[in-house]
Amino acid sequence: MKYFENQIAVITGASSGIGRATALALAQQGANLCLIGRNQTALDAVADQANSYGAQVSRYVADLADDASVQTMLNAIAPLKQIHMLIHSAGTFSMGTLAASSLTSLDYQYQVNVRAPYWITQSLLPKMPTFEAQIVFINSTVGLTARGSVGQYAASKHALKAIADSLREEINPQGIRVLSVYPGRTASPMQAQVHALEDKPYVPENLMQPEDVAASILHTLSLPKTATVTDLRLIPLKK
Ligand SMILES: NC(=O)c1ccc[n+]([C@@H]2O[C@H](COP(=O)([O-])OP(=O)(O)OC[C@H]3O[C@@H](n4cnc5c(N)ncnc54)[C@H](OP(=O)(O)O)[C@@H]3O)[C@@H](O)[C@H]2O)c1
Repeated sequence: MKYFENQIAVITGASSGIGRATALALAQQGANLCLIGRNQTALDAVADQANSYGAQVSRYVADLADDASVQTMLNAIAPLKQIHMLIHSAGTFSMGTLAASSLTSLDYQYQVNVRAPYWITQSLLPKMPTFEAQIVFINSTVGLTARGSVGQYAASKHALKAIADSLREEINPQGIRVLSVYPGRTASPMQAQVHALEDKPYVPENLMQPEDVAASILHTLSLPKTATVTDLRLIPLKK
């Protein structure tokens, strides 16, 4: 029997990068999936691959910056009786100094990186079985230590850390684990965008791979229920 057989995982950002790799790794270990993203074609491709591993898959197109869209997605998920794993991987990034960055871009990152995972967790928590369920927040190394020119993104990820840390204290007593993952540079469309903004050549093979992050997450999610990993910081080996 596979480790996550008969378990349901809801994954945001499932259409790409770390979310996609985590969804596929969970499917290979027997989980059934609810995939959330904006890009229907990309979600369909992930669903087809997960189906080929034997997973049952449902997909929900939702823009996490749009309350009406999030509400529609939550209504569509509502009939599910149980959710065993909730993986928040969707995220958005912008770069710029405080002097040059707009409030609009700050608000947008707050909406996608903070408010949406907060709201989705709040809505789905009642469906998460005690002594079984697990929640994962994909954060960032800058959610631990900010750098210049990423203040808005880092602030959103610091807020996400606070939400995860607080929630962990609240629901660990019910046997629900909460993991924050702090990846460094990981090959993905978002990281390609970061390199373009930094005017640096993008060499994905020198970076961490989404599958590396997914493998660490699955390892952590499969720990015996006597232990919980709270934080996972991963950086590329090549410097
Ligand atoms: N790559 C890195 O180096 C790195 C490092 C540290 C942390 N992270 C974090 O890792 C997470 C995953 O990023 P990634 O590297 O895997 O990037 P990615 O491949 O570009 O994927 C980003 C995902 O977020 C989804 N998304 C973005 N905006 C959204 C919105 N408004 N509504 C719904 N979904 C939205 C995208 O969905 P669609 O494509 O369907 O729109 C996509 O599935 C993010 O939270 C990011 O902050 C990444």
